[in-house]
Amino acid sequence: MSPDVPERDDTGRVLIFDTTLRDGEQSPGISLNTTEKLEIAHQLARLGVDIIEAGFPIASPGDFEAVQAIARQVQGPVIAGLARANPADIDRAWEAVKDSERPRIHTFVSTSDIHIEHQLQATREDVKGLARASVAQAKALCDDVEFSPMDATRADVEFTAEVLQIALDEGATTINIPDTVGYAMPAEYAAFLTRLYELVPDLHKAVLSTHCHDDLGLAVANSFSGVLAGARQVEGAINGIGERAGNASLEEFVMLLHTRGEELGLHCDVVTTEIARTSRLVSRLTGYVIQPNKAVVGRNAFAHESGIHQDGVLKERTTYEIMDARTVGLDANSLVLGKHSGRHALKQALEDLGYPVDGATLNTAFKRFKELADKKKQVTAMDLEALVTDELRAE
Ligand code: KIV
Ligand code: ZN
Repeated sequence: MSPDVPERDDTGRVLIFDTTLRDGEQSPGISLNTTEKLEIAHQLARLGVDIIEAGFPIASPGDFEAVQAIARQVQGPVIAGLARANPADIDRAWEAVKDSERPRIHTFVSTSDIHIEHQLQATREDVKGLARASVAQAKALCDDVEFSPMDATRADVEFTAEVLQIALDEGATTINIPDTVGYAMPAEYAAFLTRLYELVPDLHKAVLSTHCHDDLGLAVANSFSGVLAGARQVEGAINGIGERAGNASLEEFVMLLHTRGEELGLHCDVVTTEIARTSRLVSRLTGYVIQPNKAVVGRNAFAHESGIHQDGVLKERTTYEIMDARTVGLDANSLVLGKHSGRHALKQALEDLGYPVDGATLNTAFKRFKELADKKKQVTAMDLEALVTDELRAE
């Protein structure tokens, strides 16, 4: 039932845990109905993520219904439901996921003193008791249990280690270390995980997981740092959506692994050519527009505007591209014509439009193109056609 990560025998495979439908849906203004959640979950299965956190079943009847529908209809990935460390949440989460071929209960309780004192208004001893009881209850229902010490990166590492040992004793199969408020820095996050490996003798028996928020723009970097420290599950959301500044952007993490992982013996099983489609679907259904310069899925991620870059890419793509647009499911890269563009890109664009020009015609067309580009942010195909037909007519 649990994902197939060997206990000690590390293959370098990183499990991809998608929380678009749970943490992602916690973004202000996002509310997905069951049909929309199912559509996204089916696409996530095509994308090849290992685990889908489908929702927080106790949060609302609608969320319960959506998690249950996903558990019943979406095959392939593990389907997880989130639960606080209390009996009602855990029962509700199990009710929602139990019909999945591969159900998981994900339960959590905070280990930072800030949360224990101000939010839980409890003691460290209480937290140990909650961790013990919740993992035991979840384990009696489901083989696959994930435990998260919330706000771990602001917690005392020794205390967090004690809580994790309890969770492991009760049968947790995945231990997730949330950087709940996006406070950690990459080296610090890795050091925290390394220290946990030293303090918790049984930690290597579980899958260690990262869950990093992006408040300081470090979510993907922290996740990768966690993997370098031994984590073999990474949690994140498509387009990086989630509480406040969001979660680690899954497509960025996956492409980081795809581009740089091999040299480190790391990989994941995501079908990268499904990335663009998944990103567009999530953007459309959530109403969250993707910023143009967003890594991997932004409309400019594979677009070149300056003449020097365009000239290089036309000669050899890898001069200015570290990824191939087709790898993420786009047709091709693009050369955007603007005031920084060069003669080579203009010639290519005119040829693509069916106007092979050279010599003096190209020179004049280029001069007129530059004059136009100074007035317009982007020169379109229609502008080019007008420009070149005038030019050809004058010949
Ligand atoms: O950010 C967080 O701590 C969470 C937990 C519920 C894992 O989302
Ligand atoms: Zn979170």
